[in-house]
Amino acid sequence: MAEVEIKNLCKSFGKVRAVIDLNLHVKDKEMVSFLGPSGCGKTTSLRMIGGLERPTSGQILLGGKDVTNTPPKDRHIAMVFETYALYPRKTVFENMAFPLRIRKFSNQEIKAKVLEAAKILDIEELLDRGIRQLSGGQRQRVAMGRAIVRNPALFLMDEPLSHLDAKLRTHMRGELKRLQKDLKTTMIYVTHDQLEAMSMADRIAVMNLGVLQQLGTPDQIFNHPVNEFVAGFVGDPPINFIEGNYVEEGDTAFFQNNDFKMDLPEERAAAIREQCPHGALHLGIRPSYFDLHHEKPDLPSFPAEVFISEPLGEVMIIDFMLGKKIIKAATSPDIRADMGETMWLSFDFSKAHLFDAKTGNAVGPE
Ligand SMILES: Nc1ncnc2c1ncn2[C@@H]1O[C@H](COP(=O)(O)OP(=O)(O)OP(=O)(O)O)[C@@H](O)[C@H]1O
Ligand SMILES: [Mg+2]
Repeated sequence: MAEVEIKNLCKSFGKVRAVIDLNLHVKDKEMVSFLGPSGCGKTTSLRMIGGLERPTSGQILLGGKDVTNTPPKDRHIAMVFETYALYPRKTVFENMAFPLRIRKFSNQEIKAKVLEAAKILDIEELLDRGIRQLSGGQRQRVAMGRAIVRNPALFLMDEPLSHLDAKLRTHMRGELKRLQKDLKTTMIYVTHDQLEAMSMADRIAVMNLGVLQQLGTPDQIFNHPVNEFVAGFVGDPPINFIEGNYVEEGDTAFFQNNDFKMDLPEERAAAIREQCPHGALHLGIRPSYFDLHHEKPDLPSFPAEVFISEPLGEVMIIDFMLGKKIIKAATSPDIRADMGETMWLSFDFSKAHLFDAKTGNAVGPE
């Protein structure tokens, strides 16, 4: 069993509070990704789990056992970091074989395990080379190979794909996920790349400024973000935020700003009255959820002027000017959108998000 329980974990470096009251349960055989911007405390959290950093306070349990003060070598964890510590004088094969040699595996077993890992990582042809003759991306894969051969119960990976080119990264994402499922290994995977987290993880822990914002499946994180930070961190191009206010006229409730006024579905209106009584809101709509019209449609919609369109092959991104703000819509590439033209944007309100403009917290009913 390699479940990981983290309880009230804190780490301060002098005045810097790197990790603040982290509570997290990673299930056995699960892949959880720590996702967040630079400096949010991902590496520090991972290093505490690995035993390389001593927590200021809090507790870490591995397989139900308190390891908060256990040295790294007794934690049965394999770690792969962005800066890989390989033996420069040994060959790739010997670097990967090293953890098995110290565990007294037979030469035959070592060869089989190293070859298997090298095949997965696509570095078979590099096995006889010295580390100094490798590129950064190749070294990174060797470091990963050295972790894989040990077949540990828990993998900790800190941005292990960061030095690979885009194509190899995409390839390795699939390979790593498959590998983790095949080996039935628990894995914590640190990245600041939302696509990497979304595509690989069973659950994602989104962090900001040392604080866990949300822990959820990729679907929950993408479709039910708990706050504006999470909503804005996943999705490319990013979600649009439109400022506005809740207003009532007679029996009807509206979302209104200087540029447009739209009916609010009753369940949304009720949630706003309850959860955000001051009524200042940010409406969040993902670029792909807009429908575009040349004429005003018989649907709730708002007009905006085409600023520029960017054809990207399979999709087209159209930038609209709404007041002084750019709103991005992702649409099929065959739509005609002339610069300066006014188009109408409609969207399904059930796919839109509302946030309290003061706290950034999501406003139900989700
Ligand atoms: N040894 C240290 N001494 C002092 N401050 C540190 C130390 N290690 C990390 N920090 C600080 O703690 C905070 C969290 O750093 P951490 O390396 O965990 O971030 P990260 O999320 O991994 O960022 P990145 O994506 O850039 O790797 C940062 O403000 C960082 O400057
Ligand atoms: Mg880091």
